[in-house]
Amino acid sequence: MSRAQRRRISGRTVVISGAASGIGRALAQRLSSHGCPVALTDIDEVGLKDTEAGLTGPTLMRVLDVRDADAQHDFAGEVREWAPAPLGAVFNNAGVAVASSVLDSDVDDDNWLWDINFHGVVNGTRAFLPILVEQDSGAIVNTSSVFGLAGMPNQSAYCSAKFAVRGFTDSLRQELRGTGVTAINVHPGGINTNIVRNARFRKDPEGRGRTHEQMVAEFAAITMTQPDKAAEIIHKGVESGKARILVGPDAYLFDMLTRVAPTHYYDLLGAVMGRVRNRAEQSASATA
Ligand SMILES: NC(=O)c1ccc[n+]([C@@H]2O[C@H](COP(=O)([O-])OP(=O)(O)OC[C@H]3O[C@@H](n4cnc5c(N)ncnc54)[C@H](O)[C@@H]3O)[C@@H](O)[C@H]2O)c1
Repeated sequence: MSRAQRRRISGRTVVISGAASGIGRALAQRLSSHGCPVALTDIDEVGLKDTEAGLTGPTLMRVLDVRDADAQHDFAGEVREWAPAPLGAVFNNAGVAVASSVLDSDVDDDNWLWDINFHGVVNGTRAFLPILVEQDSGAIVNTSSVFGLAGMPNQSAYCSAKFAVRGFTDSLRQELRGTGVTAINVHPGGINTNIVRNARFRKDPEGRGRTHEQMVAEFAAITMTQPDKAAEIIHKGVESGKARILVGPDAYLFDMLTRVAPTHYYDLLGAVMGRVRNRAEQSASATA
């Protein structure tokens, strides 16, 4: 069997954290409809039950905080017992956002984010990797971001955690060379999910006096990709053997600019993002 065939995950069991909303929910829906038994976790029990209610295939669901390494380990044991098919992929997807300048940063907010976005990914990887290594097949699929490719203002905690996910996952992939297991980084651009609604803000970091609701609306207006499209890109990316999956047209822009202008990318990105934001504001006020 070729390596590419071994990466096929349709029909195999998958594990998805952060499955109560956004990209995680869309992955659950897509992969379940492609014959995957799905093992789902989230801290949001109501959202998780809503996800499960929309699925028709085999599902195992647990309310779990990805920061809890023991809980992730116990869940891996449950999945090992339950899995109706070998494990195809483990999506360490749960994540949160914080927006603040470094100067104004709140230690608790930044630690909250690092514990979920980085240590949550490490916990999930450590819990499930032994199963994949034993099978000698499958993929650890860790969610970084385009903010794991470029440093952005008012995103120091988020960027540092997502760069860390990228480094951790790339290191793991090198360790796994020559085996049937791999580790993949996912770098989504703006996806229209609840990430900004669920984010922590103390004040508008750009000093424009926006409320949290206004920031949620602005984010929704500038996102270029819907969660179901993101899930399709991620699913196809894993199956086609990619080590790094860029999600959405803006992800390709980030990738290109950080390569051609490694220290000056924000000169261009900031201008593009400002223009997209202005257009979104104009269309919002035209429809108001
Ligand atoms: N939406 C975007 O534009 C975007 C861009 C790049 C990367 N990402 C990343 O994609 C991933 C999915 O985010 P999303 O956009 O779908 O956001 P979302 O807020 O819609 O979904 C995130 C899910 O993670 C869950 N979660 C939060 N903390 C948790 C914890 N401690 N334990 C378990 N579950 C927890 C939430 O309850 C939620 O269901 C995140 O890692 C995020 O950083 C998102």
